[in-house]
Amino acid sequence: MENLQGRELVMMPQFFSEQEKKEYLNKMFTVKGYYPALGTGGMGIDFVNNPQYISELTKRGVLPTMSAVLLALGEPENREILFGPKETRLEKNRVKFSREKNKEILIDRVAKMREKNPYGIVAINLMHAVGDYKEMIKTIGNLGTKNEKGEVVGNGVDILVVGAGMPRDLGVDILEYPHLRYMPIVSSAKAAKFMMIFAKKNNGRLPDGFYIEHPDVAGGHLGKKEIAESGFDAQKTIDEIRKYIAEYYDEDVHVPVVLGGGISYREDIDKALKIGYDSVNMGTRPLLTKESGLPNKLISAKYLVADDVDTTLKSPAGLPSNSVNNPEMVVEKNAKEIVKNCIKCIKSCKYLDAAKDALKQGKTNAETKSYCIADKLSLTRHGLDGGLLFSGKELRVIKNDSLYLDQETGKALIPTVKQMVEFVLNPKHKRPNN
Ligand SMILES: Cc1cc2nc3c(=O)[nH]c(=O)nc-3n(C[C@H](O)[C@H](O)[C@H](O)COP(=O)(O)O)c2cc1C
Repeated sequence: MENLQGRELVMMPQFFSEQEKKEYLNKMFTVKGYYPALGTGGMGIDFVNNPQYISELTKRGVLPTMSAVLLALGEPENREILFGPKETRLEKNRVKFSREKNKEILIDRVAKMREKNPYGIVAINLMHAVGDYKEMIKTIGNLGTKNEKGEVVGNGVDILVVGAGMPRDLGVDILEYPHLRYMPIVSSAKAAKFMMIFAKKNNGRLPDGFYIEHPDVAGGHLGKKEIAESGFDAQKTIDEIRKYIAEYYDEDVHVPVVLGGGISYREDIDKALKIGYDSVNMGTRPLLTKESGLPNKLISAKYLVADDVDTTLKSPAGLPSNSVNNPEMVVEKNAKEIVKNCIKCIKSCKYLDAAKDALKQGKTNAETKSYCIADKLSLTRHGLDGGLLFSGKELRVIKNDSLYLDQETGKALIPTVKQMVEFVLNPKHKRPNN
């Protein structure tokens, strides 16, 4: 437990055996008061899979989430093969190559994380919108060491968090992997209820918990169709979800509900817990650390000096998304090139659809303001120019925190995970203008 100014927060304990971890996991998902108050969100492409990043979080009682999204592009040589210069680019079997690498790299990332962090409780994020969603569920469910019955008994991941779309079959798919808890990411109580109804109707497993993501301020894709403000009300949302939980779950089970999006200060955590959430998740704060997969030079040259964070309708998944405006991001307009370069990373890609429509109409250029997310987000992952700079809206506020300023030199400072967690937990660090 973290005790600061008299108020206690539930923090994740350290575990020294698989058995200890298992017992705690059972309590986390059934008994009130065990789910750790602070966690971090999954961030594709591969921004959150560094073993050092994960163990620095678990060491401090924070529940980390890895990413299983488009991991092929987490390796610079695969980026070269898929999106590099035309002379060296793989033209045939691009989809097959990228999907095989997605799996291979996921297995490798989790194994490396477990070498450093054998018994920490670790979640993993997958986007429902990705083209290899079903294959990746299988790969995630089979990660780790198995016993003679084929059951996973260690070294895998513990919680599957699925966002960007409604994973309506997940309650059934997950039956094959009893060691895995699952939590859908939703932005409304109605969507949470839909997940409950679907699991019940299909004799699946009910979600073990819910991650409620603020549809206006969170980093990356947003859970709303329009750019306009959604009128999201955190209190009303949790009250309704608790009502649905009481309707669909056994009376003696406490289902954890986590709030994410715009959480940056201790008072945000306290407020969320006070109104009925079990925990909060942060994305942008942990992204801006030395140990995350976002190269330090982009943190200082692009993020900490950003004028603003834009919500645009440009995401190829057809959802608005929050990102730092990057004038250097050049979007391919040639429809033929777009179709040729596609690795089918998103199931229903609006960027690809626009290019196909253009070709059908005999046009050369696609009339689209969208982009290839695999290409552009992986530029950022590897510190190259012209990338897509996903960020939460909070960046506008937090970039001025003392956490990012070297008091001695007056220059920008990129904090370690340790410094970031200590800053966020300390009630002395107030939200500006409060
Ligand atoms: C660079 C970046 C990449 C992200 N990628 C994903 C992703 O692949 N899947 C997902 O469900 N959420 C993704 N998110 C959302 C985060 O997991 C988290 O929910 C969100 O950032 C929380 O809001 P905050 O940034 O205001 O803290 C991403 C966010 C950022 C900033």
